[in-house]
Amino acid sequence: MRTIQVRTASADYPVIIGRNLFPAIARAKRLRQPGQAFVVTSPEIWALWGRKFLAAFSKDQQPTVLFLPAGERFKRLAQVERLATELAEAGADRSSVLIAFGGGIIGDLAGFVAAIYMRGIDYIQVPTTLLAQVDSSVGGKTGANLASGKNLIGSFHHPRAVFVDIDVLQTLPNRELRAGLFESVKAGVIRDAALFRFMEKNAGKILARDPAALERVITASIRMKAGVVAIDERESGLRMILNFGHTLGHAIEAATNYRALLHGEAIAWGMLAALQIAHFRKTVGPDQAERIRQTILAYGPLPAFRTTPAKLLAAAGRDKKNRAGTRRFVLPSGIGDAIVVEDVTEAELDAAVVWLLTHCRE
Ligand SMILES: NC(=O)c1ccc[n+]([C@@H]2O[C@H](COP(=O)([O-])OP(=O)(O)OC[C@H]3O[C@@H](n4cnc5c(N)ncnc54)[C@H](O)[C@@H]3O)[C@@H](O)[C@H]2O)c1
Ligand SMILES: [Zn+2]
Repeated sequence: MRTIQVRTASADYPVIIGRNLFPAIARAKRLRQPGQAFVVTSPEIWALWGRKFLAAFSKDQQPTVLFLPAGERFKRLAQVERLATELAEAGADRSSVLIAFGGGIIGDLAGFVAAIYMRGIDYIQVPTTLLAQVDSSVGGKTGANLASGKNLIGSFHHPRAVFVDIDVLQTLPNRELRAGLFESVKAGVIRDAALFRFMEKNAGKILARDPAALERVITASIRMKAGVVAIDERESGLRMILNFGHTLGHAIEAATNYRALLHGEAIAWGMLAALQIAHFRKTVGPDQAERIRQTILAYGPLPAFRTTPAKLLAAAGRDKKNRAGTRRFVLPSGIGDAIVVEDVTEAELDAAVVWLLTHCRE
């Protein structure tokens, strides 16, 4: 078991990484304090892990279970209201604590409920997808989607603790595992050359879910994110580098109606396209660009998708990370380093989009 402490201006909490962690969750400091505990999870995850999860809690400590159906279309305010109503009806008060037990959707939405229920109650993250473990459970971003776009409503609300149990990944479908690994490749590219090299050399082991290899990737990814968030909690500077691959990745997700690709897969495509711009601007040398490309592809296959240049460009223009009138891209500037550029030209963006559209079909 390892602990990484996340220290920001407004919060200080441990991320505990290890195996067979349910007993440690039940013993968590926050859960030994007074207050009713609630688990927010999905029926699918609960069917796989619920019995084992509850068995870790003593009879008089059993949490109340609330469900959110799986899928991005349920990450909506209607579900926030329903869950909050269920909390109120079950007698939740300001001393209550939520345990978000699931992937990034559960973490974001339960975190958002915790952020606003009675103006804010405590919550604990127990991420069950690789993406949620290496990325979304750390950093305090919570929220919901609007019909107009993803994550347009939300709040910063840090958990009191995060428990990253590698064993729960046993039931995670391969495609979901790979999607999370793309975010770890991103972590290596932008800020941790050792993580990148490890992922470059050990794709076989990692994809075969070798626990030691997975633990190393997960720990390094979380350490990277915790370090960035500690310096720039509210994404006014450094935290933007976490968006490598995300400008076009988000555009691909939007242009394909969030159906063709998982988030991590869209980000992998987005990183490949951003590499074209990086290569063009010579922020990375050709050898480094090729190593990054090969390492992304090693965690594929990347599913094909279909869209039009117009749709992609329109979606890229709407990205909420853009500042008025600029096109913001994160570009690697070597392996383990990245820069944020705001002056990507229309021609560069067009070239990246053309590259995507010629490579995205089978
Ligand atoms: N807050 C942040 O900083 C942040 C960062 C990145 C992504 N996100 C958000 O995260 C969400 C995506 O999260 P995700 O990729 O975890 O998707 P997800 O929550 O939809 O989970 C993916 C699928 O895996 C299933 N699943 C989860 N754990 C499982 C397990 N252990 N075994 C078997 N099946 C399991 C789920 O039921 C679901 O069908 C998006 O909404 C995105 O906006 C947030
Ligand atoms: Zn992402």
